[in-house]
Amino acid sequence: MSSEVLIQRLNEALGWELRAMNMYAHYAANIQGIHRLQLDPMFTEEATESLAHADVVRRSIVKLGGVPVTERNSHPIVHSTDFKAMLERSLETETKAAEVYAGIIKLLEEIGDQEMYDSIEQIYFAELRSLENLRLILA
Ligand SMILES: [Fe+2]
Ligand SMILES: [Fe+2]
Repeated sequence: MSSEVLIQRLNEALGWELRAMNMYAHYAANIQGIHRLQLDPMFTEEATESLAHADVVRRSIVKLGGVPVTERNSHPIVHSTDFKAMLERSLETETKAAEVYAGIIKLLEEIGDQEMYDSIEQIYFAELRSLENLRLILA
């Protein structure tokens, strides 16, 4: 397999991370009412996590000889002050992230770069944890 496909998938993941940073920061600033006490910290933590994920993915792309994207994924970030709508959008975002990283992990198995595999796998597990957490919050 050529690393072109892997670079392209990593760039797709990077675009989603850049979007997640914006979305979570937006929701952290806009959350209102009693839920602000818990969801401002939670959204802020997710924004910070997305920044860290983006950094790992970006450096992986450079290591492979690719050029990292600078624009976020164009999927709309829907403004809301309703906590439930924010959580549903968060769940949607984490589901997409988990899906993208699951695909990348399969590709990395073929490449045989253990360090890159491990670092991307850690991101994948973090997405799964966020996904499960959101699923339970919305249950
Ligand atoms: Fe992430
Ligand atoms: Fe995430």
